[in-house]
Parts: sequence; C-alpha cells; structure tokens
Amino acid sequence: MIDLHCHLLWGIDDGAQSPEDTFSLCDTAIENQIQTVVCTPHMLNLEETDDYLFVRDAHAEELRRYLAAKQIPLKICLGAEVYLNDSIFAAEGLESLTIENTRYLLCEFSLRPFPPERALVLLEEVFDHGLTPVIAHPERYPVLHRHPRLIEDFQDMGALFQVNTASLAGLLGDEIQDLAVWLLKNGVADFLATDAHRPNWRTNAFQKFVEKFPPEITPELLRWVTQTAPSLLLENKEIASRRPSFF
Ligand SMILES: [Fe+2]
Repeated sequence: MIDLHCHLLWGIDDGAQSPEDTFSLCDTAIENQIQTVVCTPHMLNLEETDDYLFVRDAHAEELRRYLAAKQIPLKICLGAEVYLNDSIFAAEGLESLTIENTRYLLCEFSLRPFPPERALVLLEEVFDHGLTPVIAHPERYPVLHRHPRLIEDFQDMGALFQVNTASLAGLLGDEIQDLAVWLLKNGVADFLATDAHRPNWRTNAFQKFVEKFPPEITPELLRWVTQTAPSLLLENKEIASRRPSFF
C-alpha cells in the first residue's frame, strides 16, 4: 500500500509529537503492508512556507537515515496538507508543497460549515497555480453533505478525492461512512489513505480498518485506491482516464 496522507513526521503539526511517535508509526506501517508513506503535515498558513519546508525536509532526512540504519523497508515521500484559506490568494511557491514535486496538491477545507461558493473560489485558485488539487477526506466536510452538487462541480473542474480509512470503517458515524462508500464505489475518489496522526490516536493500523470496511469495497477497488492510483500520482501521471472498468 501507498499511504498518500499521513502526519508521520514529528514536531510540525498535531501529528507525531516526537521521533519515537514517528518510529512507532513506521513500525505499524510495515506491520500493515504499507510500503510507502507520503508525509503530509498540515500547512495552515502559506506565508510560513519556507520555515515549514525547512523543518519538514530536515526531519524527513533524519527519518530516512534512521530507517536505513535499522534496515526498515519503508519509503518516505513528501507532500503537505494545505489548508485552503485566504492566504492562498497571495501564495508564492505553492508548487513547493505538492506531493513529490508532481502536479498534485493535497488540500483540505474547513470542517466548519461555509458557503459552497467559497469552496469553488478557493479550489479555482489552486488550478490557477497550474496544480491539480486532491481533496483530503471529502466525506468529512459539512459543506459537501449540505451541498452534494459541489462534488460534481469539483469533478468538473478536474479535482481528485482522497477518502480516509477511519471514515470508511465507520469510526466517524454512518453519515460519513455512507458518503465515503459512495465516493469510492462510484469512482469519484481515487485514493484511500490513513491520515494517521499518532501511535495511539488516529493510527495507521490499516488492516484493522479493512476488517470494518463494508462489502461494497471489493479487493479490486481496494487495490486501485491504495496502490495503483497512488502509484500513478507519484509518477505525476494523469489518473481519471486510467480508471478501471469496474466503476
Ligand atoms: Fe490530515
């Protein structure tokens, strides 16, 4: 599995709080057949991009050295989870936050309700930077539950979607699980990721979540959203046209 969204690196956000937290999440990744983790710490203020990248890259380098010394076969890739707010309108260097320097930018919206028009304006700004947004955990946003038409609007713009494992397993309630299933089953969401934070809070114990997935999530579908599509993304390839025929 490629885990496209994970707060694995310590000392940047509300994810891992220490190197020990990070090392523990790495062990859990390996135990759960996760071979590649894209580290996507929260980026909340785009005016602080330089400082953020400095710490992120330094901690990633330290982690890679640790994994190599311990001979732990976990590949570490880099990205960011960019919170879409007004700072995007003055943002410079947004492309430095993409996943592995591809065209793909992992983006999140506010979990509080806000007008749907605002979502469209913010997303448009990402496209204006020449990037393709991957919307993190769409199933969690009240704005998408209240205005489901927005999902189609996002698709028409060319946005991609990433569902969280905990949502799909039903840990956040029926309403969120139902939307997660719908997004995956209908070929709207191409990615499933853990969005793991800490060893004992929002973990990356992927296999435990799989046991709770509803039967609509077939092995073929699971392979597309955890391996094939994320792999295409890391190669900076176009994804929508390559969706398999089972959708
Ligand atoms: Fe996240």
